[in-house]
Amino acid sequence: KIPVIIDCDPGTDDAFAIALAKASGRLDIRALTPVSGNVGLEHTAPNALALNDYLALGVPVGKGADRPMIKERVINLATHGENGLGGVELPAPRCTFEEDHAWDVIYREAVAQKGELEIAAIGPLTNIAITLLKYPDIKPLIKRITMMGGAWGVGNSTPYAEFNIWIDPHACDVVFKSGIPITMVGLDATRQTFFTAEEMDRLLASDCAVSPLLRGIWEYTRAQKAREGRESGIILHDALAIAAIYCPEVIHTEPYFATCEVRGSLTEGQTVVDLPNRWKKEPNVDVAMSADKEKLYALLQEMVAFYQN
Ligand code: BDR
Ligand code: CA
Repeated sequence: KIPVIIDCDPGTDDAFAIALAKASGRLDIRALTPVSGNVGLEHTAPNALALNDYLALGVPVGKGADRPMIKERVINLATHGENGLGGVELPAPRCTFEEDHAWDVIYREAVAQKGELEIAAIGPLTNIAITLLKYPDIKPLIKRITMMGGAWGVGNSTPYAEFNIWIDPHACDVVFKSGIPITMVGLDATRQTFFTAEEMDRLLASDCAVSPLLRGIWEYTRAQKAREGRESGIILHDALAIAAIYCPEVIHTEPYFATCEVRGSLTEGQTVVDLPNRWKKEPNVDVAMSADKEKLYALLQEMVAFYQN
């Protein structure tokens, strides 16, 4: 099993992603480290704690940053609802937060795993950047960071910026410059995994132990899309990033030099990927160019089957 810390901002697709990670049987989840993102830490942290119990993960949950490194905090109420889980109320957790913060939990685990630890970063990169700044000696101890974030094409928060990066571009800058192997699962890939309403209904048709969570999130998203007059369906961005860790063929990556625009007047938070190799710099990021939607759907079907047993 691959030892992994899931740094997250649950978050509707984060919840699917964490459920998928557990069900895969291929990941040894070492901790959850919530960060402020889709909603504030006052929601993402309790949500992570509640998911830890609900999904029977039994892992440490170390609270992370309650705001970006430099930018003002902005949240994403429409997409994830006021509580971050599309209004789904999970049972009150019995577990409690770690005393250590996210960055200390990440460092502790990186040392314990002796260079094998991977990080799944499915929220803004604030916790990861703080870890790298506080513990520079951690770099050789992290095998890979697989991040859902960014885009080499168009964005979703602004014309060119994806939400996780737009929230905290300075954190992305620190991560991109770290020298740690990075897989960037951006919007270019996740947009290829849009599941229609019919596909989601089919996926969630049979009851399983976590149906209230998965169906509640899907129903919230369906209603939200209808309110906005958008095509019914869902992109489970974060689930694709998790899948890419244990099933790399779910995405196709190519190595590029990538950097993050921290202060563009129009393009703040854009991940600038040197596709034409104009800068002739060493590649620092394995960039997801495309995704295999059918493969991801199959992995999600396996997830549902797991929770039926
Ligand atoms: C990313 O932003 C959040 O809304 C999702 O949870 C995902 O991590 C997609 O842009
Ligand atoms: Ca997320």
